[in-house]
Amino acid sequence: MVVPLTAAHADEVIAIYQAGIDEGNATFETTAPAWEQFDTAKLAEHRFAALDEEGRVLGWVAATKVSDRCAYAGVVEHSVYVHPDARGRGVASALLKALVDSTEAAGIWTIQSGVFPENAASLAVHERAGFRVIGTRERIGRHHGRWRDVVLLERRSPAIS
Ligand SMILES: CC(C)(COP(=O)(O)OP(=O)(O)OC[C@H]1O[C@@H](n2cnc3c(N)ncnc32)[C@H](O)[C@@H]1OP(=O)(O)O)[C@@H](O)C(=O)NCCC(=O)NCCS
Repeated sequence: MVVPLTAAHADEVIAIYQAGIDEGNATFETTAPAWEQFDTAKLAEHRFAALDEEGRVLGWVAATKVSDRCAYAGVVEHSVYVHPDARGRGVASALLKALVDSTEAAGIWTIQSGVFPENAASLAVHERAGFRVIGTRERIGRHHGRWRDVVLLERRSPAIS
């Protein structure tokens, strides 16, 4: 079940975030933020949690604005993280569908994300969800002291013209 992500999910969301970070191919970040920081940064209407039958969090998706310029008012950047024990059963796909639906309903036309080229699961999930590869930014940032590339992905909504 996919539901709006609220403070009730805070601890599990941050723990899943940290688990993804610790695997080394999810983000340049090395430590998950505190809930308060996460809560402030992520758009309230475009964040969701996937829950199991007992209400445990299996994964989450959330988006941020990319710019304050009006031309980019309909462009957001997202993150999606699934608990290591819940992968490979469509949780990320369900979360991305919820995000696509909520953003399109709000008039947001583009969702973008940066993915490390080594993150095959994320590239596959996003391709399935209708994202395209824009290109690869070479040695764009240092991660644990090592320069890394990032593949830029976007989904331009066909519903908004
Ligand atoms: C990337 C991630 C979110 C995928 O979550 P998931 O719930 O396992 O993905 P899904 O089960 O919804 O998979 C969706 C599709 O991607 C494919 N896929 C998933 N993992 C894959 C892998 N390792 N290799 C190839 N394809 C893969 C699935 O086959 C599925 O396609 P299908 O619907 O045609 O079968 C998860 O691996 C994760 O949390 N990783 C750590 C955090 C991270 O890297 N987040 C992304 C940051 S950009």
